[in-house]
Amino acid sequence: MRIAVYPGSFDPLTNGHLDIIRRATRLFDRILVAVLENEGKAPLFTVSERKELIARCTSSTPAIEVHSFSGLLVDFVRHHDASAVIRGIRAVSDYEYELQMALMNRELNAEVETIFMLPAVEYTYVSSRLVKEVFRLGGDVARLVPPVVLDSLKARLPVTVGT
Ligand code: PNS
Repeated sequence: MRIAVYPGSFDPLTNGHLDIIRRATRLFDRILVAVLENEGKAPLFTVSERKELIARCTSSTPAIEVHSFSGLLVDFVRHHDASAVIRGIRAVSDYEYELQMALMNRELNAEVETIFMLPAVEYTYVSSRLVKEVFRLGGDVARLVPPVVLDSLKARLPVTVGT
């Protein structure tokens, strides 16, 4: 059984995340999507809301499970008998931070491999942060997030259109 963990903040899930999750299901038997419980980041959606959105968007694929975690990622990975961490890399600018994390995780547990995956080209500029910013300012993000996420953004965020 090949198990991989796909960790992140997912505040909120984007089509770029979903694309990576789908690609990872071709390589692993189980994908554990792991939402970080990072109180410090003042997220837009609570951890349960983020988990619920991910679960609703992946429910048709039994190989995908949604979890949350606190503490070290490598501890979560070990606890679930996973062998790999999946991270999406969109551009060279992502690489430096991702390399640091991957090597730190290797230092903490040499058994855990980090696998960098590329999203479809149309999602290379998509991030949760930009989606929230563009939505807030009245921009159209319908192509960038799943429909349930769009509905949640509409319910949560006031839109301020400039003049
Ligand atoms: O979506 P994000 O915010 O880029 O995800 C970052 C995440 C969750 C992968 C990272 O912050 C993380 O693994 N945090 C857990 C704490 C940890 O293990 N830190 C040491 C790893 S370098």
